[in-house]
Amino acid sequence: MSVQIHTHADRGAAIKAVAQEIASLVRTKPNAVLGLATGATPIPLYQELVRMHREEGLSFAQVTSFNLDEYQGIPREHAESYWTFMHQIFFDHIDIDPSRINLPGSQVPVDDMTAHCATYEAKIVATGGIDYQILGIGRTGHIGFNEPGSPADCITREIHLDEITRQDAVPAFGGIDQVPTSAITMGCGTILAAKKIALMAFGEKKADIVRKALQEPITDLISASFLRNHPNAAFHLDPEAASVL
Ligand code: GLP
Repeated sequence: MSVQIHTHADRGAAIKAVAQEIASLVRTKPNAVLGLATGATPIPLYQELVRMHREEGLSFAQVTSFNLDEYQGIPREHAESYWTFMHQIFFDHIDIDPSRINLPGSQVPVDDMTAHCATYEAKIVATGGIDYQILGIGRTGHIGFNEPGSPADCITREIHLDEITRQDAVPAFGGIDQVPTSAITMGCGTILAAKKIALMAFGEKKADIVRKALQEPITDLISASFLRNHPNAAFHLDPEAASVL
């Protein structure tokens, strides 16, 4: 049991490989449960899946999706919410049933937070669990928003965002004051319960954190390092992201 490392010819090849895996899963199991990620990294993946839907008849009609995370304190319709991102980039262009789309809420009242997170977690379990989980990696080594200090068995919960993560979101939000300070994220335990996991990382900027996640001791300071304990996880890299391995 060791994590697979695929260094593809370029990011286009990596995207194609992951898209093919998702397409063959959905073709053999039309009611597959997909764990979905946001960020710039998976955008071309969603574009490729939309192309497969349009040109190759790939249907998501019976698929259930769970997104990893959502910012807190902004309306769902905010331009930078993950709800908006997912609809603009993916859901609005495929035949997924809106009732099977799941994201954590973006304005969950404090008093409802524990129940909201527990319900999200329970719903994942009730659907039979995630068949295929897509991941990116943040500059702090986080998967979802599992910032440094998130234990391997943590589940869906509210998390305070690391300052590095908030800084990375400044260009999107237009200023540090506009960047939310917290989010709801699936936990490391939630993610590690997925049957198959594909982490994608592209470009030189990801090289150092990819090296730490794969080659330094497994630690809760880098939640992506926990993937090395998963029986069916793969890192899909381009040559730049793999350049210091
Ligand atoms: C955010 C998301 C992560 C994502 C990370 C990296 O923190 N919550 O899921 O992996 O950004 O984003 P990018 O792919 O834009 O580098």
